Amino acid sequence: MKTLRIALIGTGFMGRAHSHAWQTAPRFFDLPYRVEMAVMVGRDPRRTAAEAARLGWAEASTDWREVVQRDDIDVIDICTPGDTHAEITLAALAAGKHVLCEKPLANTVEDAERMAAAAAAVPGQVALCGFSYRRTPALALARRLIQEGRIGQVRHVRAQYLQDWLSDADAPFTWRLDRELAGSGALGDIGAHSIDTAQWLTGSQIVGVSAVLRTFVEERPEREGVVGLGGTADPDAPRRRVTVDDAGAFTARFADDAMGVFEFSRVATGRRNANRIEINGDRGAVAFDFERMNELEFYDASEEGHRQGFQRVQATEAEHPYMEAWWPVGHGLGYEHTFIHEIVDFVGAIAGAPTGPDFSDALHVQRVLAAVEESARADSRFAAVKGMTS
Ligand SMILES: NC(=O)c1ccc[n+]([C@@H]2O[C@H](COP(=O)([O-])OP(=O)(O)OC[C@H]3O[C@@H](n4cnc5c(N)ncnc54)[C@H](O)[C@@H]3O)[C@@H](O)[C@H]2O)c1
Repeated sequence: MKTLRIALIGTGFMGRAHSHAWQTAPRFFDLPYRVEMAVMVGRDPRRTAAEAARLGWAEASTDWREVVQRDDIDVIDICTPGDTHAEITLAALAAGKHVLCEKPLANTVEDAERMAAAAAAVPGQVALCGFSYRRTPALALARRLIQEGRIGQVRHVRAQYLQDWLSDADAPFTWRLDRELAGSGALGDIGAHSIDTAQWLTGSQIVGVSAVLRTFVEERPEREGVVGLGGTADPDAPRRRVTVDDAGAFTARFADDAMGVFEFSRVATGRRNANRIEINGDRGAVAFDFERMNELEFYDASEEGHRQGFQRVQATEAEHPYMEAWWPVGHGLGYEHTFIHEIVDFVGAIAGAPTGPDFSDALHVQRVLAAVEESARADSRFAAVKGMTS
């Protein structure tokens, strides 16, 4: 069996989630390759060495450019902020590597276009974008039901992604609040997940939007060494200007005539990670909330009247997506499993079993993000998504 040698860049939230996934995937799934966790790359030598040792990487490095050129590396896994995605991806693809790049694909449509073009030019190399919620078994089950026609023609898509880690005005400034580093705020951070999920579930692309974006807290105190989400800062610390949105909403038209309503916020008090989606077709509906990630609600309009109503399916049966590898029925999964499944599918794609979202899917999400910003700037005037592929 051939061995894939992995280099992962970024030691923060996603660096840890992906490290855990690379460790666990080969232990619970039969992968077509042996996987070797070769190098973890960070910026601070001490922190990177400590994290690499703790998370199971053979080596630590602070020079991603050197690592990307190494002949003994097959895969580059990019877990850094959006401003770095294009440069690292383009170097990795040019060096012949397979690439798993965190979402959103880039900070601008132009960068995403360059990345998609570079990936298309090397069809033998896999380039996947990390919209990890696709790998939630209950959502993958929803997709299966929709593809089987169980809800009929889709009419409504209703998606919300609500968090509250920025509701405190003294929550510290992080790269996620800096447009130069993050591209956008709640829109690209979490709204992008909803856009990807909606297009993937329905099999239909968003063709235009009408949007609002809001920044409620315009300056936040600085704090050194913030990684991941949350935390508080000294309220007397110097403040930095927030250059992205805290929240937003948009209506969407889909290519197949469905209509969508999307809302995303990082200041939705009380909602920690409520990634929800409900889709109504002419024969039924599905509804999902990540805060109850093992459950899918399914409504079948063809049931006899006295039996009609949403049924709650626990997506933990062996025949549900990904579940055969896990626990006895009813013993649920957690957030980390979505990343394990992502690695399983990514390695499977390297062995010739295609999976999404590829860079052209992720480019379309990027174009929807740009249309949302364009519409919000123009007082919610309808903005067509540019470069539609269907
Ligand atoms: N799939 C998901 O559900 C999900 C969840 C969270 C974040 N993300 C995405 O993952 C990426 C990283 O987010 P995070 O939450 O891990 O951030 P984080 O702040 O926790 O960690 C970012 C890491 O990148 C490193 N880094 C930053 N610039 C770098 C550079 N120029 N060179 C090398 N390393 C650099 C930092 O040192 C840090 O280790 C982002 O694109 C984000 O949108 C995806």
